[in-house]
Amino acid sequence: MKIAILGAMKEEIAPILAKVENYKKIRYANNDFYTATYQGLELVIAYSKIGKVFAALTATIMIEKFGCKKLLFSGVAGAINSNFKIGDLVIATALCQHDLDITAFGHPFGFVPEGDVCIATDKNFLDIARMVASEKNIDLKEGIIATGDQFVADEKRKFWIADEFKAHAVEMEGGSVAVVCNALNVPFFILRAISDSADMDAGFDFEEFLEESSLISADFLISMLDRLK
Ligand code: ADE
Repeated sequence: MKIAILGAMKEEIAPILAKVENYKKIRYANNDFYTATYQGLELVIAYSKIGKVFAALTATIMIEKFGCKKLLFSGVAGAINSNFKIGDLVIATALCQHDLDITAFGHPFGFVPEGDVCIATDKNFLDIARMVASEKNIDLKEGIIATGDQFVADEKRKFWIADEFKAHAVEMEGGSVAVVCNALNVPFFILRAISDSADMDAGFDFEEFLEESSLISADFLISMLDRLK
């Protein structure tokens, strides 16, 4: 069974490509997809480029063209919960879109008719992640992750997202990947390591910690694959 491993940026998947036994690059829809094996698992690895549209496109291709039956996302996020520090690992229990707004028609933020504000992550993957964390003595954080086509570097926006969605971290892809996987019945899991605190220093911190936090997330994801094999 093929498993999709998705990131948004090159830096987020580079440490995963470095761990797989062999890979073959396939160019499709203006993107590179890497088919690989890892300890007997068949993987398709890609980075989507930043944002909800590219992430939805790439997730759909991994499922519909490459036949992936499960999807795991690895990358970085901005902390909303003030207890989350740079380098902390956080798993999404559910995802929402903080920039989806048709409140003009009386709907709540993040909601469109026939959709849901939040989409829950696969419980089986959450259990595997908790198990891996406990074995490795990692203080794994969890909670709702909010997604939007916006790099949040502003405390006012960050606190609004916290209030409105009860979110603990913010990023730019997970919510759209959740919509795709939910619609296509593909169990999915979104893992992030904190790169910044979505505040006025976020731009600087993100550049400083992107590689380090990407590696933390990728290492944990590989440990989860060890459990799946
Ligand atoms: N990914 C990492 N940090 C982020 C932030 N502050 N806002 C949105 N996406 C992010």
